[in-house]
Amino acid sequence: MKDQLEKIKQEALRQIEASDALEKLNDIRVAYLGKKGELTSVLKSMKDVAPEDRPKVGQMVNDARTMIEGKLEEAMSILQKKAREEQLKKEVIDVTLPAKRNKVGHTHPNTIALKEVERIFVGMGYEVIEGPEVEYDSYNFEKLNIPKNHPARDEQDTFYISDNIVLRSQTSPVQVRTMEKGKLPIRMLAPGRVFRSDEVDATHSPSFHQIEGLVIDKNITFADLKGTLAEFARELFGLETKVKFRPHHFPFTEPSAEMDVTCFKCGGKGCRFCKGSGWIEILGCGMVHPNVLTMSGIDPDEYSGFAFGVGLERIALLKYEIDDMRLLYENDIRFLKQF
Ligand code: DAH
Repeated sequence: MKDQLEKIKQEALRQIEASDALEKLNDIRVAYLGKKGELTSVLKSMKDVAPEDRPKVGQMVNDARTMIEGKLEEAMSILQKKAREEQLKKEVIDVTLPAKRNKVGHTHPNTIALKEVERIFVGMGYEVIEGPEVEYDSYNFEKLNIPKNHPARDEQDTFYISDNIVLRSQTSPVQVRTMEKGKLPIRMLAPGRVFRSDEVDATHSPSFHQIEGLVIDKNITFADLKGTLAEFARELFGLETKVKFRPHHFPFTEPSAEMDVTCFKCGGKGCRFCKGSGWIEILGCGMVHPNVLTMSGIDPDEYSGFAFGVGLERIALLKYEIDDMRLLYENDIRFLKQF
């Protein structure tokens, strides 16, 4: 029995010394000390030992066990230390390497332009209001003085959800919604997405954005319109900017005009940017039509007002000298990160 124990001990120690991995040490533990391990089976054969020798043999088995356990632990801690050292070596951080840059997104040129326009009008006391993109035909057209079958509808063909619900073709319906609330006076700015059944090209898209403006109060005149929009143009394009109003027609304003600004590239001399004219068309505007006021429940004898509509993309394209509107929608990061 003693020899057998000695053999088991020697063999265990030999195996422990030869181990180069933690898993192997674990296997050895199981093989010698485990429930079905060799030392355990020696203990089981104690019944064959003479009773007077049993304490001695038991002591020997325990000594062997303690010794093997000790060696196992020692070997394990050496291997663990080695593994840790190797890992530390592998994970050395080279602090001289250039840092990885976090790519942070930023504001889209449309949004930059919108914030700028909002800043200017909020500074003049306007409130920013939003209206629905899916709109009643009556708000998008009829209450803006564009009856069914009126030719003005041809210019703003849009997408029909049903006979009387459309994707709004302009932000002007927000004028009606605001007037109908009946809280006067009004100074509002209504930016938002609009839709037209247009083909995509460098200057058209079936979905784009407008910024609507509306002022309603007593004694509002065309002089207020001119002064306001001239100030807007100066703030947006530079203090030296001049404006020019050309008579135009919109069904919901009378009189109506389009406003041009002096080309901010050449200052009005004429260049490639303004196609030689020195002027750039920027928005539509006019005095709110008495029919529109009446339909929205406002007495045109008591109140008057002006309105305007700006194409947001147009502002962004001009301000950042982008020559193709499609670039604003393609989400090419190489383009977007330039702003
Ligand atoms: N809604 C017009 C359009 O989409 C733009 C416009 C013109 C708006 C004149 C106005 C305005 O408020 O007074 O073409």
